Amino acid sequence: MDRVIRIGLLGCGTVGGGVVTILDREADDITVRTGAKLEITHVAVRDLSRSRGLPLPDSVFTDDPVRVVEADDVDVVVEVMGGIEPAGTLVRRALELGKPVVTANKELVAQQGPELYAAARAAGVDLAYEAAVAGAIPIIKPLKESLAGDRIRRVVGILNGTTNYILTRMTEEGASYEEVLADAQALGYAEADPTADVGGHDAAAKCAILASLAFDSSVHGDDVHREGIESVTATDIRTADRLGYVIKLIGIAHESDGQVGVRVHPAFLPKEHPLAAVRDAFNAIYVEAEAAGELMFYGRGAGAEPTGSAVVGDVIDVARNLLQTARGAYETHHRTTPIRPIDELATQYYVLLDVADRSGVLAEVATTFGAHDVSIAQVWQEGHGDSAQLVLITHRALERDLRATVDELATLPSVRSVASVLRVEAEVFEQ
Ligand code: NAP
Ligand code: HSE
Repeated sequence: MDRVIRIGLLGCGTVGGGVVTILDREADDITVRTGAKLEITHVAVRDLSRSRGLPLPDSVFTDDPVRVVEADDVDVVVEVMGGIEPAGTLVRRALELGKPVVTANKELVAQQGPELYAAARAAGVDLAYEAAVAGAIPIIKPLKESLAGDRIRRVVGILNGTTNYILTRMTEEGASYEEVLADAQALGYAEADPTADVGGHDAAAKCAILASLAFDSSVHGDDVHREGIESVTATDIRTADRLGYVIKLIGIAHESDGQVGVRVHPAFLPKEHPLAAVRDAFNAIYVEAEAAGELMFYGRGAGAEPTGSAVVGDVIDVARNLLQTARGAYETHHRTTPIRPIDELATQYYVLLDVADRSGVLAEVATTFGAHDVSIAQVWQEGHGDSAQLVLITHRALERDLRATVDELATLPSVRSVASVLRVEAEVFEQ
């Protein structure tokens, strides 16, 4: 095979290392499948002194990523450094130079997607980002290509491996949050700043990308209502379990009544739902389409080789297109569907209150719910004396009414504190 497609790698950490390993290990088959040899000619890293144990000569490494992008012997730029800058400038520069880009950077795509898609389109080259959402799972292509003839109604996903890993171990082993987060970091699941994972930012970026593709409308990362898992407690997990639920960080994008609702937050999911069975660092995306019906995509959402697999798949795709002087499908954003305010969400809620252990408290609490039109489905007391708590599950209610209820509950003398409020997505697939 005489043809060579030369790759410039921006970043060689967890994902970059996975990419290098796969390209080396599967080189022969990849060459045949691509119709050209894929060769890494330059790699940008921050720390040149670090030994990486990868099958690459020292001569390819540099700490100048601009040089990699601009090098004459780079045909395809692979951005796996993360962050908005300098990654954004480097990606734009590569596109300006007419070089296709493969990126795993969901933060960048969620914030600057429309500008980057336009730059790629103007240059007539590919911008591929399969690895940016749910690691190894093919979901960008199915939405952009396989389902291009259908109308998507809803996308619900477990989109972050780190938080799913943490919640799984907290649920199954009663492990502490801090201990499990450290393990997730050691396994290469967590972002450089793990608050991006536990705070729901990473899942929100992925949810925005999925919503944009699903509904042909530009949904920015900041449009996503976002809550993380930091305040989920062992008590919440135990209560969910007793009631037949598991707590998961979910992302939901839903189009109805001319609006798109996009939200990421922890929620009670019924144990019998397929998403409830998604454990550890696995991700899953459930898609509801008008003609295709229900589809479920499942796999490893993080880690070096799972993510590397998606990156290499994209590299092969863009290399094949380069060889044919073609390019892949464009993103379409011809609708400007408004975002539904979170206040207008209707769902069920779990509320945990630390209360005074005396007569009349339950009546006061129930009156407050009633005053805001939030109907209680279940209520019971846990503990006694100073540790008395009321656990309440509501019927379906409007988010704005639930918030008004909680605000007023916090002012009642008999309520020592509002310990937890979580959404119960019992009807997530019926709303
Ligand atoms: P990482 O392990 O922190 O690796 C980042 C790499 O980029 C490192 O090699 C680092 O150099 C290099 N780098 C960072 N800033 C640089 C700069 N200014 N100049 C030159 N090199 C620079 O991160 P990662 O986990 O591989 O993630 C990379 C991207 O993939 C992120 O966008 C992330 O969101 C995305 N992603 C990650 C996963 C996952 O499972 N980890 C899954 C899907 C998507 P040094 O090695 O010298 O520090
Ligand atoms: N930190 C991310 C996660 C990596 O835990 O899912 C995959 O995007």
